[in-house]
Amino acid sequence: MIKPMLDLFSGKTPATPPVWIMRQAGRYLPEYHTVRSKYSFLELCKTPEAATEVTLQPIDIFDMDAAIIFSDILVIPEAMGMGLQFLEGKGPVFSSPVRTKKDIENLNQDVAENVSYVYDVIKLVRKELREDKTLIGFAGAPFTLACYMVEGAASKNYIHIKSLMYKNEIAFRQLMEKVTHALITYFDNQVKSGAEVLMLFDTFGGIVSPYDYQRYIFEYVKTIFESIKAKHPHTPLIYFVKNGVNVYHFLKELPIDGMGVDWTVSFDTAIEKTENKFILQGNLDPVMLFGSQEVIKREALRIIEEGKKARGHIFNLGHGILPKTPIENVKYLLEVIRCKN
Ligand code: CP3
Repeated sequence: MIKPMLDLFSGKTPATPPVWIMRQAGRYLPEYHTVRSKYSFLELCKTPEAATEVTLQPIDIFDMDAAIIFSDILVIPEAMGMGLQFLEGKGPVFSSPVRTKKDIENLNQDVAENVSYVYDVIKLVRKELREDKTLIGFAGAPFTLACYMVEGAASKNYIHIKSLMYKNEIAFRQLMEKVTHALITYFDNQVKSGAEVLMLFDTFGGIVSPYDYQRYIFEYVKTIFESIKAKHPHTPLIYFVKNGVNVYHFLKELPIDGMGVDWTVSFDTAIEKTENKFILQGNLDPVMLFGSQEVIKREALRIIEEGKKARGHIFNLGHGILPKTPIENVKYLLEVIRCKN
């Protein structure tokens, strides 16, 4: 049986690149709103039947090659004991951010039981997903989670997390270690529940200098990937550092199989900086989907051409799809990728 995304990771070259879209289950879809209107966002994540339904929507509507479990990176801090709310127009907010050594000591790093609903979603989706489709599990990387946990919400200057890092390195590292511990169990259980590929999102990995990425962030990411690779050598691992071109050369040392590339970086640069060690995933600007079909086609074909120089290419956007994205343009993009238009 042809299984486009996993086949690529096992060294085969499909005729057209496998494709899925970050945040493919979400607010740009009317079908998502219908389900979401019955639950808060967190309730939806914690109701396996409903979470399964929205996970499968983009597969049914667009025939994506992979499903990504419907959840959020912030369910881990919540499971560690932090009160989490998603506020309309403001995004995620933690009522009591962690700022002191004591706050960090109080965090629970053994999260498996508290996130068992995620494993239930994975099991249910795998049961209902067509066999040729790949199921992706995911988590937020330690530093990206720490940013939210210490700032309490999205931030402009990251003063709290950076103050912790630059003024109280011991506490910062305690926090990073606890999150790393939780993530290893989380990923391990995702694979045991049926996730076939794992993706680690480091959305804020690019907010520090490359020196500080190496000093304060990289070792935790490496620990996670090394530990999961040892436990599950056949599960492909993908790492995505947003705005991370200046740290791509470090990635060569990671036991990963693929990397996400945002639209500010050309594949040529990513290939050069990582010595073509990885399958590249990306990298259309999500806002391009608000453009004309002529531009969408031109850019999609350019990316596919550039992707041929890489060890492998999974078509995706360079970041999450945005609310209000025209559905017909997503359909058109898929047709272009599959040479049907
Ligand atoms: O890709 C998928 O379809 C799987 C689901 C997924 C969600 N969040 C669902 C979601 C994934 C992979 C994420 C990851 C995530 N969440 C990241 C890393 C990737 C990235 O985008 O950088 C981050 C930083 C978050 C934190 C988060 N959660 C934000 C910033 C928001 C948006 C806040 C807002 O209101 O705009 C969320 C909420 C969220 N996560 C939604 C979805 C579908 C929207 C919730 C809703 O229905 O209101």
